[in-house]
Amino acid sequence: MLDGLNRSPKQLPAWLLYDRQGSALFDAIGEQPEYTLTRLEKELLGRQAQAIAEALPAGSLVVEFGAGSAEKVSPLLHAIDEPSYLAIDISAEHLRDAGARLQERHPSIPMLGICADYSQPLDLPLPKAWQSKPMVGFFPGSSLGNFEPHEAINFLQRIRQLLGESAQLLIGIDQTREPALLEAAYDDKAGVSAAFAKNLLLRLQRDLAIELDPEPFSYQATWQPDHQRIAMALVASKLQIWTIGGSNIAFVAGEALITEYSYKYAPSEFLALAAQAGWQAAKRWCDAADHFSLHLLTQGDDARINT
Ligand code: AVJ
Repeated sequence: MLDGLNRSPKQLPAWLLYDRQGSALFDAIGEQPEYTLTRLEKELLGRQAQAIAEALPAGSLVVEFGAGSAEKVSPLLHAIDEPSYLAIDISAEHLRDAGARLQERHPSIPMLGICADYSQPLDLPLPKAWQSKPMVGFFPGSSLGNFEPHEAINFLQRIRQLLGESAQLLIGIDQTREPALLEAAYDDKAGVSAAFAKNLLLRLQRDLAIELDPEPFSYQATWQPDHQRIAMALVASKLQIWTIGGSNIAFVAGEALITEYSYKYAPSEFLALAAQAGWQAAKRWCDAADHFSLHLLTQGDDARINT
């Protein structure tokens, strides 16, 4: 973490945003009129669950990376023949609450939760009975956009190794569109996106005992066309010194702390990136305006030759 604060620009890992308060604020972002991603994806999953399930083997184990409130997987679990479900999330509280709700909705589907940071190397301690199940990774929400492209390739490679050669991956990807719309989506009028980012400062104070004043920091979301990404940042209005254990971290006036990047990918760009990690396109579903895609990926023979 100190690494990130000594970098230029300063940056903290995105998972730090998701404590209990942060997870709740993120859910509220999904309800803002400017932020269409969550609604588009839920509609798409609801509408296409049957078609998606037809592309998956019966008895599939759905492994969701970053399950959050686990509201998206329901239509899939409903449509797949005899599924099981494994949720991975960084927030233990979220995992417990969401898991209980989901289990209530699908009482006969076997479910498990693992509290872990999926951006780090990970083991899947599967019960014996689950080890031979066909696996499908589920990575919704365009969360891949939080990674820099080289990290995204790494991550996609790691989940390929984790899930095995015969696994498929269903992944939600938000696409590029007019910068003004994107900037509004990440800086809504109601100020929920700003509160989500600022919660990070409260968390640094509360959980990591960093001495800092959150007041002089203001939130900005900027489309960076050269990188095809939104940069979310907290910008210091005047000189700030933070104390962390024995060391000091200084922000000059106007200096930014990057809280998150959100990369956007056209379908062909995303598929080129996925191919570098050994994943091939099987199918794609999108909304009417083609703003958001669900890609189903498999591992072809070519993938194995390349690795
Ligand atoms: C969870 C990474 C997909 O980039 O749209 C939304 C995070 N942060 N608004 C996104 C986020 C502020 C979100 N992802």
